[in-house]
Amino acid sequence: MFQGGGSERDSFSSKFGVIAAAAGSAIGLGNIWRFPYVAGENGGGAFLLIYLLFIAAIGIPVMMSEFVIGRSAQLNAVGAFKKITPGKKWHLVGLLGVVSAFIILAFYTVVAGWTLEYLVQSVKWMLTADKIGFAEMDNDAVRSFFSSHYESFVSGMWRPMIWFAVMMILTGFIVISGVKNGIEKYAKILMPILLVLLLVLVVRSLSLEGSREGLLFLFKPDFSTIKAAPMKIIVEALGQAFFSLSIGMGTLITYGSYIKKKENLASTAVSVAFADTAIAIVAGLAIFPAVFAFGISPDSGPDLVYITLPVIFQSMSGGLIWAFMFFLLLCFAALTSTISVLEVIVAYFSEQLKMTRKRAAILAMVSVSFLGILCMLSEDVFAVFNGSPDLLLPLGGFFIVVFIGWVLSGDTTKGELSSDGKYKTGYYKIFMFLVKFVAPLAIALLFALGVYSKVITLFPSIG
Ligand code: TRP
Repeated sequence: MFQGGGSERDSFSSKFGVIAAAAGSAIGLGNIWRFPYVAGENGGGAFLLIYLLFIAAIGIPVMMSEFVIGRSAQLNAVGAFKKITPGKKWHLVGLLGVVSAFIILAFYTVVAGWTLEYLVQSVKWMLTADKIGFAEMDNDAVRSFFSSHYESFVSGMWRPMIWFAVMMILTGFIVISGVKNGIEKYAKILMPILLVLLLVLVVRSLSLEGSREGLLFLFKPDFSTIKAAPMKIIVEALGQAFFSLSIGMGTLITYGSYIKKKENLASTAVSVAFADTAIAIVAGLAIFPAVFAFGISPDSGPDLVYITLPVIFQSMSGGLIWAFMFFLLLCFAALTSTISVLEVIVAYFSEQLKMTRKRAAILAMVSVSFLGILCMLSEDVFAVFNGSPDLLLPLGGFFIVVFIGWVLSGDTTKGELSSDGKYKTGYYKIFMFLVKFVAPLAIALLFALGVYSKVITLFPSIG
């Protein structure tokens, strides 16, 4: 897999390999770090409801569309559009994806680096638990211990940068050396373990005193929160749905180009979306009960998970061993996502600009590192980069569904979805209705709202 273009173009080895790779891309910090805090900032249950609707009605159709484009063209995100519609401007959609990949990879790798810091710290906390005096602390003290650790860590310079560099190099190394026998193999074992660990956390979190409120927060839609800030909630739910599924950027066009003709694209998309959503909800179930039990504020932002989880771990017997395992797996989940973002850039550089994969990866890593440093030096840059998927990904997704709905021939689409008649496509009419009308209209509307709402948060005087 991932061995460049031409006739030797490689592909995923099995159905499970396809799902593991695509789910590996989808499942990551987006589920465990970003979903809980974005849901927390947007009122919990009401956000979840809208989010689920977007996954089903827009997310899955976009994902299928990306697979169709990638597999029918057998090329990277830019090359695919060039091949299918030569001489037209559609390849700009692919280029937009490459640009988005740089931005997303920059802030994502920063947060991925935090998992390494927590990995190391959890060992230290474990060894010095007596000295720190966890046993004598009350909830407030535990919470403030971890939140001041987080503050001093992210506001420091060197540690975040070192961890960023480590993540970047690991990502580059895997992308350069190919993944079939490496990450793909481990993904199959480690992702299920991550789920089990999350479930352990859920049990612990639910058993804390005062946890019920967290459940209500996550599952009971409070429509007054929607009324208070409808635009923000809807726009961020769509952005989070795109981000979490890894769509709207050409990642799954690129991965689609490595999927064998005999695989069923529709069922793959549904399985991936299902697994991704399940992990996000389980993460929410682990986090919100503890958030309420410890009096953490659910809308505290990007630090939510990095403070809440250590707090839960510390309260468990053998606690910090769990923490170590958890952050190890989270780091791995992040890595299977970072490689999928880097792969978009590397496939483009190597196939379209005729670079070697190694050169392409190094060039990409160096430029992403500059952007990453900006994110680490300035909280504002970090916030802008981290908010950008809310607009960039739906924009890309809009053109992708329009392309499938209105440009690519129905025969090609049907041929890909059915693998030339091998699979039934009873859903085809509904799918076409979604990609022709529902998804483009909904995305266009929300994109306009999104631009408006981001502009008024940046320049409040206009609103
Ligand atoms: N989906 C990943 C996550 O939830 C992040 C990610 C990987 C991504 N590849 C992407 C997001 C492509 C957008 C586009 O952690």
